[in-house]
Amino acid sequence: MAIIETKNLTKHYILGKRKVVVGLEKVNLEVNEGEIFGILGPNGSGKTTCLKLLLGILFPTAGEAYIMGKPPHDVDMKKHVGFLPENPYYYDYLTGPELLQFYASLFSLEAQTAKKRIDQLLELVDLHNAKRLHLKHYSKGMLERIGLAASLINDPEILILDEPTTGLDPIGCRDTRNLLLQLKQQGKTILLSSHFLSEVERVCDRIAIFHRGYLLALGTLDGLNSQYQATNLEDLFVKTISSFDNQEAAKTGDVT
Ligand SMILES: Nc1ncnc2c1ncn2[C@@H]1O[C@H](COP(=O)(O)OP(=O)(O)O)[C@@H](O)[C@H]1O
Ligand SMILES: [Mg+2]
Repeated sequence: MAIIETKNLTKHYILGKRKVVVGLEKVNLEVNEGEIFGILGPNGSGKTTCLKLLLGILFPTAGEAYIMGKPPHDVDMKKHVGFLPENPYYYDYLTGPELLQFYASLFSLEAQTAKKRIDQLLELVDLHNAKRLHLKHYSKGMLERIGLAASLINDPEILILDEPTTGLDPIGCRDTRNLLLQLKQQGKTILLSSHFLSEVERVCDRIAIFHRGYLLALGTLDGLNSQYQATNLEDLFVKTISSFDNQEAAKTGDVT
């Protein structure tokens, strides 16, 4: 069953009278309950735009988006969703538990529930030994992990993560990957964006390749590899993107 769905979802950024940037163009996606779904694409391909439209942070130019059958502005639906933004900003002088307490208060969690969940989450992301440390002194990997914990404070069924491993070293990436697999085992649905091919390859059940706001390909990695006669994700990525660019060039008469 599709727990996240977009129908012809489109976002055009209007930058001036004659300047329109395509953020997303008629994207149709379905993410199934319990899967890890990866949106893959180069910088500027529309990944963040798509996630923000789903969450109601941006308004679409056209098309529709649904999470659990509800439109992005539905308040009840948001209680079931956790979001880790691309470049989260945290107050330097909070400790991990204080940050999580702040997020708990946003969801009006009852004090006992909040305390229990904060302890569990710090354990889950392996930050229980750094409880007194200010975020200012956190490493990049620790910040990513506390961000993940914050996105889980409401015990969401659905997790939406924008580039969760960008800037992490290999150990950090591996830790995040294991964490995502653990969360999947708990039954959560995870939608993540990434431009890291190897990360996506290792954790995602299905992927969508975005380029210049267009959805170029969607399916399991094996399915897509055989469809495009690709040997691996990198090969698939290059093939789908260059064939799109060639078609576009042919349309406009450009010779490359
Ligand atoms: N607020 C904005 N105003 C104008 N253009 C934007 C804005 N946000 C994104 N874009 C443009 O939309 C396209 C998609 O961007 P984005 O969704 O951020 O891509 P990604 O997350 O894949 O890097 C890019 O061309 C980007 O420059
Ligand atoms: Mg982005």
